[in-house]
Amino acid sequence: MCGIVGYVGHRDAVPYLLEGLHALEYRGYDSAGVAVRVDGALRVCRCEGRLSALESRIAAEGLTGSPGIGHTRWATHGEPSERNAHPHLDCNSRLAVVHNGIVENYADLRRRLVADGHHFSSETDTEVIPHLIEERLRRGVAARDAVREAMRELEGSFAVGILLADDSQCIFAARHGSPLVVGLGKEGNFIASDALAISRHVESVIYLEDGQVAEVTPQAVTVIDLEGREVKIEPRPLTVKAEEAEKAGFETFMLKEIHEQPRVLWSMIERHVDENGEINIDFGDLDSEFLRRLERIMVVACGTAFYAGLYGKLFLEHLTEIAVEADLGSEFRYRAPKFDQDTLIIAVSQSGETADTLASVRSAKSRGAPVFSICNVPMSTLARESDAVFYTQAGPEIGVASTKAFTAQLAALALFSLRVAEVRGELTAEDKNQLLTDLRRVPQAIHRVLLAKEHIAEIAEKHHSGPSALYLGRRFNYPVALEGALKNKEISYQHAEGYAAGEMKHGPIALISEYMPVVCICTRTADNLYEKMISNIKEVQARHGRIIAVATEGDRRVAELAEDVIYVPEVREEFSPMVNVVALQLLAYYAAHARGNDIDKPRNLAKSVTVE
Ligand code: AGP
Repeated sequence: MCGIVGYVGHRDAVPYLLEGLHALEYRGYDSAGVAVRVDGALRVCRCEGRLSALESRIAAEGLTGSPGIGHTRWATHGEPSERNAHPHLDCNSRLAVVHNGIVENYADLRRRLVADGHHFSSETDTEVIPHLIEERLRRGVAARDAVREAMRELEGSFAVGILLADDSQCIFAARHGSPLVVGLGKEGNFIASDALAISRHVESVIYLEDGQVAEVTPQAVTVIDLEGREVKIEPRPLTVKAEEAEKAGFETFMLKEIHEQPRVLWSMIERHVDENGEINIDFGDLDSEFLRRLERIMVVACGTAFYAGLYGKLFLEHLTEIAVEADLGSEFRYRAPKFDQDTLIIAVSQSGETADTLASVRSAKSRGAPVFSICNVPMSTLARESDAVFYTQAGPEIGVASTKAFTAQLAALALFSLRVAEVRGELTAEDKNQLLTDLRRVPQAIHRVLLAKEHIAEIAEKHHSGPSALYLGRRFNYPVALEGALKNKEISYQHAEGYAAGEMKHGPIALISEYMPVVCICTRTADNLYEKMISNIKEVQARHGRIIAVATEGDRRVAELAEDVIYVPEVREEFSPMVNVVALQLLAYYAAHARGNDIDKPRNLAKSVTVE
């Protein structure tokens, strides 16, 4: 996903732009650029590759100027290159544009603009934007209206930053479908794709809504809608600080975030469960009567968040009589599921900006279904479009591969399920209190897994070089098998497949050989599920598979069958995913480390996929 930063004020824009772009690196990118105003003209500097290359180029040119805009590009239209890097200019280099999103009708627009004499220099969809503004400026349209009218011509999703050579005291921002904030600070005002990029320099922010254009000067921000009507938006105090996004001594953000999980979960339980065991969750207008009537829940999410949603489905069904299904946001949006007023949509999303999840939510809302979202980013688009929001408050998750956000989603879904079951009379006080006591054991159990990281690193170094790995789990740990495999794929680039252990005999068993590590989640259960996992391990062993088991501390049986064992503390099976997944996060982490990969910014990946 691309990153946008802009600054307007009395100081040199370049340092602010570079600092902001560094804070947005976690979103994933393949090229970067800035544009600043210098003596009534625009100076542009762009580079393929990392920000360090851009910084070297800027230093060599001695580039300074103000106002300015900057961009990190994650290529969608046109390969990663300097020519396709943003900012993009109009014919006479009198305005520069940076963009996040996709202009779906760019081909038609480009054809018309070329026919009208405009010349293009890149393969990007973005480049139509400066020319659309330019043709209106040529007709004498005021800048604010030229921007607004150009935005009306765009189809698709966009967040746009605009810089004009003719105006030393203004930059423009426009939003439709991709997030954009305006920051108000003492040294000037800013625009950014997320507040984290400008958090050191602003006290408050304005979250633009879809279809809004902001004219930003050092003294004021004017927001209008696409009809030109002024929109009054109260700035909100900034809630995220850059310090939270520092590595705090860890070698990578991901490792720091893996280690934050005990605190994140402990804090969540403290926030939502009082000393009397009362669970407090803000259901917004979804009152107890609605929860009691509830007959159906649909969970929609993508990627790791979907695996959390799968866990939520299993736990909700375990506790209540509600029919629960979980579906991928990228598929749900094309379905025509049957809703009624007793259907609830649960949307799970760390960023709250995932296009497929948002599209599914909007589709469901258009048919009258209320939406409860579980989200980690305050005031994100999903949060603002939901009827009620459970903020996981895990803090900024910078590593592209999700870790603390995932376990926070699991814990949030567990608390949600407990509260809903209690309201519906499907959970006795005694059972609730026992479940809460067991849930409170999870943070310390995770901490114990973290202490085993050297042992896990040794296992990872032994097994990371094979072509593929298989991850097996059952019931509440089936989603963990899926998530463990995704982590391995995402950061070590070793192919991995998560599978329901019971399904192995229906096909994947053909893959078993001494070249394939098989990760078996085989922690103890109250029923005979554990024995079924032991059988799976024996089937793999009989075919010379190399078994890495996640097992309960003290379990000697598994040690006799597996080549390597990662022991985890015993917790209630329903909550074991929050603990077991940490072993698999570390396994993937050290496999990626052994391969020398860029763990925080894996190739081809973006932190939040705001395009389809
Ligand atoms: C997780 O490691 C991945 N980065 C990715 O699957 C992510 O979970 C997915 O894109 C959903 O993102 P969201 O939670 O912000 O909606």
